[in-house]
Amino acid sequence: MKVIPGLEGVAVAETDVSLVDGERGRFVYRGHWVRDLAVSRRFEEVVHLLWYGHLPSMEEERRFGRLLSEHRELPPHVKEIIDQIPAKTDMMSVLRTAVSALPVTGSWPPAPEQAAAVLGAIPAIIAYRHHRMQGTPMPKVQRDLSHTSHYLYLLKGTAPTVAHERALEAYLILTAEHGMNASTFAGRVVTSTQSDLLSALTAAIGALKGPLHGGAPSEVEGMLEAIGSVDKVESWLRARLEAGERLMGFGHRVYKTVDPRAEALRRVSQELAGEDPWFQLALETEKIALSLLEEYKPGRRLYTNVEFFAAAVLRAVGLPKQLYTPTFALSRTAGWCAHILDQAEHNRIIRPQSLYTGPIPATS
Ligand code: CMC
Repeated sequence: MKVIPGLEGVAVAETDVSLVDGERGRFVYRGHWVRDLAVSRRFEEVVHLLWYGHLPSMEEERRFGRLLSEHRELPPHVKEIIDQIPAKTDMMSVLRTAVSALPVTGSWPPAPEQAAAVLGAIPAIIAYRHHRMQGTPMPKVQRDLSHTSHYLYLLKGTAPTVAHERALEAYLILTAEHGMNASTFAGRVVTSTQSDLLSALTAAIGALKGPLHGGAPSEVEGMLEAIGSVDKVESWLRARLEAGERLMGFGHRVYKTVDPRAEALRRVSQELAGEDPWFQLALETEKIALSLLEEYKPGRRLYTNVEFFAAAVLRAVGLPKQLYTPTFALSRTAGWCAHILDQAEHNRIIRPQSLYTGPIPATS
């Protein structure tokens, strides 16, 4: 038996949900290029593709949109639980707690209707807590807006511009699913014990929260804030690398070439943020970081990852930093649920082994 640190290069499931080809930069959801889905489809259509295996007909899309929108209103007990959580608690922890309290049946095997009840409610959880913390009123739930529009509407109180809706929709589609990442694996492990959907999703949310996974975009923004201006980029980054620190928004376990999601989001943020000084600082930081990573970590093939430009898009559509990772959780719930359904369909308990390195007691 051999230990593979971080399970690098280990395949733990066969799946037709998605292909993440880190050598050739190919990224596919169920037979469709994700870059094409991001510019031509709505989030609801892509979620339908991930859960049911095909893009919906117009009638299926209408029905699926209605199914999601039925869960937009938070039950009173969930609001009460959110209100009890201390103000200093971060939004991902609030989301984890609130999701576990949703009135979703725990019956096995999990079904898309259960998944829709969670995905439909997540925007309201985030928005409700956000308004409580800001002391602003939560807008009245609307039924006729798309999932993406409704999320922005709940946060801001007015329906978004088409440009903001399309930018966020591209982000949500590009980050909806990404193979056997840490949070998806966590969700599949829980599901493999025949536990319920909410338990699997709360495990996944917990895994996504870490800065090495979904917590990176707010760290990217923090990095740019700390750098402050274009003339300080090189000295700031060099000091971090000299100290042996990691640069947030760079490197990936699977991508040893350009992350196609980063490329797509760069274009989206360029369209929205263009000449904005913050965006110019981001571009300069990326350029210098890539050359310094080559200098300090030669041969490691470290490229810009999705989180770098995720920060740019989410900022450009007006989201505050503390909502970046929760918004990632909103989109990734689609992929988590696809994998949870997939795991349940072909289930075998996930039960690896460990290699004991301690002493053996003397025989009596
Ligand atoms: N900055 C500086 N050095 C790095 C970075 C980085 N961002 N990423 C990896 N390295 C170095 C690392 O120090 C190691 O060097 P050495 O060979 O001298 O020990 C080498 O590259 C290989 O790193 P690793 O830790 O074996 O790589 P990994 O596959 O275990 O980690 C990662 C992948 C994403 C956790 C890592 O690249 C990282 O910490 N990046 C920064 C955090 C980040 O941006 N996370 C978002 C990831 S994308 C969203 C998602 O899919 O979750």
